[in-house]
Amino acid sequence: MFERIDIDSLELNPFSTIGTDDFLVTAGDGESWNTMTAGWGFFGVMWSKPSFAIVVRDSRHTYGFLERSAGFTASFFPPEYRKALQFCGAHSGRDTDKAAATGLTPIVVEGPEGLDLVTFEQANMVFCCSKASRTVLDPSQFIDAGIEKHYPKKDYHTLYIGYIDQVLVREE
Ligand SMILES: Cc1cc2nc3c(=O)[nH]c(=O)nc-3n(C[C@H](O)[C@H](O)[C@H](O)COP(=O)(O)O)c2cc1C
Repeated sequence: MFERIDIDSLELNPFSTIGTDDFLVTAGDGESWNTMTAGWGFFGVMWSKPSFAIVVRDSRHTYGFLERSAGFTASFFPPEYRKALQFCGAHSGRDTDKAAATGLTPIVVEGPEGLDLVTFEQANMVFCCSKASRTVLDPSQFIDAGIEKHYPKKDYHTLYIGYIDQVLVREE
């Protein structure tokens, strides 16, 4: 149902792909996982490897899964799943079964070295990543004072950079 594509063949605008469409960050394995909507992140090259970076506040249920997992997926969806993504960004996996509520169907994809990752059948593009680093954003390092307005509760994001092990796209 998914085909693995060469990352060099990707043709997309990173600003609209991430900035307009949002995506699901999913961590955990087939037994236990959680997903949440993300609107911020970026991809490019880090430490000479294709990489995908996400930022997750420690108040998110997904945060604990990310901390315990060796990897994560960043999954993008066709426009008809906008409501499902809104739902996953407005409810917590602590008290909601997001798959049951949205109809999204979790599937396990195999990463390198036995790394099991979770994405969803309905995704049309999935970045499968191994965690390379985590960095808690430190407000004393903010140069733009305006950034602080994003943190009235002081729940600063943790920046996770993942190496992109594979990119999957839905087969036609
Ligand atoms: C469009 C949109 C984008 C979001 N982007 C992020 C993000 O990049 N980082 C983050 O920590 N939370 C983000 N959120 C908030 C989480 O998705 C939301 O708090 C979610 O309910 C967390 O679920 P969880 O507790 O199951 O992890 C976003 C929410 C929406 C609706």
